This record gives sequence, C-alpha cells and structure tokens, in this order.
Amino acid sequence: MSDIFPKPVAVVTGASSGIGAVYAERLASRGFDLVLVARRADRLKALAARLSRDFGAKVDILPADLTSDDDIGRIEEVLATNPLVSLLVNNAGNGKIGATVDMSSEDAAATIALNVTALTRLTKAVLPALLSRNAGAIINVASVLAVHALPMASLYSGTKAFVLNFSRGLQQELAGTGVRVQVVLPAGTATEFYDHSGVSLSAFDPAIIMSAEDLVDAALAGFDKGETVTMPSVHNLALWEAYDAARTNLFASTQTGTPASRYRSA
Ligand SMILES: NC(=O)c1ccc[n+]([C@@H]2O[C@H](COP(=O)([O-])OP(=O)(O)OC[C@H]3O[C@@H](n4cnc5c(N)ncnc54)[C@H](OP(=O)(O)O)[C@@H]3O)[C@@H](O)[C@H]2O)c1
Repeated sequence: MSDIFPKPVAVVTGASSGIGAVYAERLASRGFDLVLVARRADRLKALAARLSRDFGAKVDILPADLTSDDDIGRIEEVLATNPLVSLLVNNAGNGKIGATVDMSSEDAAATIALNVTALTRLTKAVLPALLSRNAGAIINVASVLAVHALPMASLYSGTKAFVLNFSRGLQQELAGTGVRVQVVLPAGTATEFYDHSGVSLSAFDPAIIMSAEDLVDAALAGFDKGETVTMPSVHNLALWEAYDAARTNLFASTQTGTPASRYRSA
C-alpha cells in the first residue's frame, strides 16, 4: 500500500518475545504497520525485519525500558502525535514469584512501574488522540490472576487486578464513542515469562499451559466479536457471566449507608 493510503499503526509493548511478539505478527498479517517496544533492541530488530519481509509492513522499533520515566515519555510522544496510531497493545508485564516478605523493594517497584504506571501513562497518552478521531482501540493484557490471588504472586495479582478494573472503568467512560478497550486475561502461557519470574515453566502440568499463538489468536477472535473482557482458556462462558453478575449484585448491595446487622452490638 502506498503512503497515499497509509496503513493504520499498532503500537505493541513487550514485543520482543512471547505474547507481544505474536500480537505483532498477527497484526502485521491483518494489515497494520507497527511500532514495537521492549528493551531488547536486537530481538525487535530481527522481528521487524521478518514482519517487513513476510507482510510488507512498515515496522519501527522503539527500544525502551518502560520503568524509565524518560523512555515512557518517548513512547507517549509517538502515541500522542502519530495520527496513524489506531491500536495500542499494552502487553509488557512481569512478575517475580515468591513470598512478598522476601521480595526486594526494587523488584516490587519495577513490577508496579511496568504493570501499572507504564500501562496507565501509555493509555492516557493515546486516549485523547483516539478520541479526537473517534476511532481506535486499546488492548490491555492482564491475567487470570486479576480475579484470583495466589500466595507467592500477591503483588503480581494486585497489578493485574488494577489492569482489569482500570480497563473496565475506561470501557464505561468510552461508551458511546468509537474507541474500544479490550482486556485480555491469559492463564498459563508458554513464554519466557517464567524464566524471569523465578519459577520454571517445567514446574507446571503442560496440559494447563497454552501456546502464545493460541492465546493471541483467541484474544483477537474475542476482539473481533466485540468482547470487552476475554478469557481465552475459559471454555464455559457461563462461569464468567455468573462471576460478573455476582460482582455487580455485590456492588449494588454495598449502597445501603448503614452497617450490616452482623456488626451491630446485640
Ligand atoms: N505467560 C503467562 O503465563 C502469562 C499469563 C498471564 C498474563 N501474562 C501477561 O502477558 C504479558 C506478556 O508476557 P509474556 O508471557 O509474553 O512474557 P515474556 O515473553 O517474558 O514477555 C514480556 C515482554 O515484556 C517486555 N518487558 C519486560 N520488562 C520490560 C521493561 N522494563 N520495559 C519494556 N519492556 C519490558 C519484555 O521485553 P524485554 O525483556 O526485551 O524488555 C517482553 O517483550 C505480560 O503482561 C504478562 O503479565 C502472561
């Protein structure tokens, strides 16, 4: 396609491996040009070359550490000013597995900076631009641990619960506009995540682990259906619907203004 009819641009964070690299490939095959973000420039460069060759995509790489204020600022600038950006995939994320009491303050701060602060800042940077064009989408990659806390993953669960709730609030703020937010909740997925988390992938039953390709294909199928929350590994959708209905009913039941009788002295 010539520059007279430029392709839409997708910005994918954490594109140097795993789920993000598959998103980049699938989006290139769907006709997007790409901006790829992660720290490992060599990986981004190799992926960019492959996607340009295989799909004719224009692929820019922006090596960046998304825990660095300056580096986030560079990505914010692109999101706010490139008029072709129509999709942001907030995928970069990490989490150390281990008891909170043993976690270093540096590791804790880095996980919050990446999973929460960077995702929030990039979302805020792109939103005004998407709203001015009344079109586009943000895909936020959370985790099934957004709805379930496990010991040894407390902080990680907390950051992913933030991603889920932040996304769901945004969906309501954006209702009636042409801008969409999808939040994706992967369960165990075969990526390098486990190399960095401190627990080997081999410690898990392979039967409960999905490939990154299946995960992204299912998530994009959910996106195409207009889903707001996508849990690719959940076969029985009624379970999610019951959970979400219970959450809504529980919230409604909090709006009483009075303490429940179990908290009143006899
Ligand atoms: N794998 C799972 O079982 C699983 C389950 C649920 C949710 N998730 C979520 O899925 C997302 C993708 O993870 P993955 O499984 O594909 O793991 P992965 O292969 O380790 O990919 C993580 C990506 O994030 C990037 N990243 C990490 N720290 C960064 C930083 N400081 N600045 C910029 N980029 C950074 C990494 O690139 P560089 O190292 O090159 O910077 C890499 O591209 C994460 O949000 C993760 O929480 C994964």
